Amino acid sequence: MTAGQLTADGRSRVLADGNEIPLLGLGVWQVPDGPECENAVRWALELGYRHVDTAQAYGNEASVGRAVRESGVPRDEVFITTKFYPRRARDPEEQAKRSLERLGVEAVDLYIVHWPEGGATWAWEGMQRARQAGHARSIGVSNFSVAQIDEVLALGGDGPVVNQVQFSPFEFRRALLEECERRGVALEAYSPLGTGRHLGDARVAEIARRVDRTPAQVLIRWCIERGMIVLPKSTHRERLGENAGVFDFTLSAADVAALDALDTTGATDAARESRWW
Ligand code: A2P
Repeated sequence: MTAGQLTADGRSRVLADGNEIPLLGLGVWQVPDGPECENAVRWALELGYRHVDTAQAYGNEASVGRAVRESGVPRDEVFITTKFYPRRARDPEEQAKRSLERLGVEAVDLYIVHWPEGGATWAWEGMQRARQAGHARSIGVSNFSVAQIDEVLALGGDGPVVNQVQFSPFEFRRALLEECERRGVALEAYSPLGTGRHLGDARVAEIARRVDRTPAQVLIRWCIERGMIVLPKSTHRERLGENAGVFDFTLSAADVAALDALDTTGATDAARESRWW
């Protein structure tokens, strides 16, 4: 299959390096390590999720790994992402090994630079080493603008196959999406519900009523209609189920366009409006 294509079931997409990634993943940002995180991951796997997105900075890799192991779902059927914590110029390969120990897995499916602190390029050589050593099957970045992706690509060698950014109809970074696609970089949407803020929007609610879905399902489906990988977060079982119910309906071109029009970023190619690092 060619990069960018969806698999036959419409639930995964092929990355530029040939690896497949499920379009829907569970994000576990701000979920405390321990029972809350383990339950969320366990329920998600029971409900059909096959993709979990954690990070060294989240402090919950151990819970993610435990829940995956105890779920009974074979390791090779679950796509696990973790992220390199880019502070104090640590070595990405070394930190990958520590992540693997905490997760209790032999390799992650995707390892990404969490944000471009200290510049876009310094970590990339170590990221490639982590992949070559077999610690990660794919490597990518997060919170990178188009200009920062281009800096990484200019290094030569393997480029990032994903860029994970905050994305939703209200943050429809159209230029970032289009320019990443042009470079073979798949976009992953974190906080697709605006960390919950967008769920109460009247325009989203109106579309949801009309298509007989919930606002969360409409926002998540919009990301899928736009070709993205989408990582909604919830620690509630019923919401996890609701958020996974996005593969048995489509949004019309008119509804996608109406959601597109909610953008407040001016179709930017930037990854963030402000940085925390
Ligand atoms: P909770 O984890 O308590 O279920 P985002 O994915 O944009 O970061 O949004 C996550 C926030 O939205 C969390 O506060 C989460 O709360 C809430 N949330 C996730 N899914 C739903 C849903 N289907 N309905 C209502 N709130 C939701």
